[in-house]
Amino acid sequence: MVSLEYLFIWVALFASLSSPFKRIDFQPGPFGEDAYTENAGIYNLTEFMVLQPTSYYGVNSYWTIYFITASNSHDYFLVGHCNAGFFSGAAPSLLVRASMLDITDGVYSSLTVLPDNATISNDTYNFYAPPLHCYSNSADLFSSITVVSEIPGATFNITSLSDGPKFFDAGSGTFMWGNQTNEWAIPNGYVTGTITYNDTVYDIISSQSLSWFDRQWGPADGHGGWQLFIFYLSNDLKVCVWHGFEVDGFTLNMATILYPDGHHEVEIVDPDIHPSVPFLGPYSGVQYYGAFEVLIPGKNAYLHITLPVLAGEITNPKLPTASYTLFEGYMTVEGCWEGEKVTGFGDSEQHQPYDQYPQGP
Ligand SMILES: *[C@@H]1O[C@H](CO)[C@@H](O)[C@H](O)[C@H]1NC(C)=O
Ligand SMILES: *[C@@H]1O[C@H](CO)[C@@H](O)[C@H](O)[C@H]1NC(C)=O
Ligand SMILES: *[C@@H]1O[C@H](CO)[C@@H](O)[C@H](O)[C@H]1NC(C)=O
Ligand SMILES: *[C@@H]1O[C@H](CO)[C@@H](O)[C@H](O)[C@H]1NC(C)=O
Ligand SMILES: *[C@@H]1O[C@H](CO)[C@@H](O)[C@H](O)[C@H]1NC(C)=O
Ligand SMILES: *[C@@H]1O[C@H](CO)[C@@H](O)[C@H](O)[C@H]1NC(C)=O
Repeated sequence: MVSLEYLFIWVALFASLSSPFKRIDFQPGPFGEDAYTENAGIYNLTEFMVLQPTSYYGVNSYWTIYFITASNSHDYFLVGHCNAGFFSGAAPSLLVRASMLDITDGVYSSLTVLPDNATISNDTYNFYAPPLHCYSNSADLFSSITVVSEIPGATFNITSLSDGPKFFDAGSGTFMWGNQTNEWAIPNGYVTGTITYNDTVYDIISSQSLSWFDRQWGPADGHGGWQLFIFYLSNDLKVCVWHGFEVDGFTLNMATILYPDGHHEVEIVDPDIHPSVPFLGPYSGVQYYGAFEVLIPGKNAYLHITLPVLAGEITNPKLPTASYTLFEGYMTVEGCWEGEKVTGFGDSEQHQPYDQYPQGP
């Protein structure tokens, strides 16, 4: 007869295996704390959590993706995004968006909103722009970050606590994307809070969930179109692959790799990412892809990327212009990395060249 004790162990094991989202514990380097990655980038994180002048910075973005296992045993992929500043000389403007995919049911909802009633702090991180509110409760403005979304079908209230090394794209946090852009992330957020699915509020199971907070600012974006893949691999690496089409002579084919001890490596990516499984955005009509093959020669890496659900367009349905529209799809990855088999999960961000979208008024 199986003792109760064994039964509990089996149940606990099954529960931990049933979530695809594996948290990776921080492995402090030889000198202990996270001092390396809090100071590795070329700017002060606290200073740049505050909104930068929107007349110069067309991109002023606070974006979080969430990989959640909830108390209903379903898995979710969520996006929350507060952004200020537009392009092409238009008046500075605010935009918020959120999405929720129930991976278990394949049910998806998303919306981009231009908030009318916003109050944005200029000296702290408090972007109150109903139906979204993005803010920090910690003195350094990044150790605790909360996003509350009241967007129907993508309703949540999630706090991410910084855990483990920060992630600096290109190693320094600065690279060319249309113009000089700055981007850093907290990729191992410890998340608590709730999500609302099918009119029921569910708790997040923190041990089987995580978030990737991304702060980006710069005077322009890659309006020639881009693909961005952000993913967690089973060999404990966190990877961001940028593939940007040419803008003013600059292209982007770069992988930034974060190791568990906090060190970064930057690799060139084969510019042919083999997009396949085309499908059309339900609102904009532009073409997105459901599969890619990404090659990183310096790591002998071959990565087959798949979107299990062909959904991810977030826009204003009445005005699906290039500025209002972004595609964020849940992806899985399998392949090999330096001779070892790897699997993983992440986000596939897609944007076609700006001139392919419906034009605004
Ligand atoms: C970073 O910026 C914050 C806010 O401006 C400031 O209080 C802090 O002293 C700065 N840190 C360093 C190391 O300069
Ligand atoms: C802004 O506030 C007005 C008046 O309370 C309300 O009618 C409107 O729906 C609000 N807009 C948003 C985007 O929340
Ligand atoms: C922040 O600065 C902008 C531009 O100077 C100004 O229009 C806005 O009112 C300020 N917001 C707050 C909350 O002070
Ligand atoms: C979101 O959750 C936090 C932490 O539990 C709580 O303090 C806050 O009041 C909640 N916000 C809303 C709008 O419910
Ligand atoms: C970057 O943007 C600034 C401000 O708009 C502009 O002066 C500069 O020429 C741009 N540089 C490039 C390389 O596009
Ligand atoms: C949503 O809830 C309703 C009422 O409880 C139920 O009938 C329906 O099957 C649920 N839908 C999904 C997708 O779970």
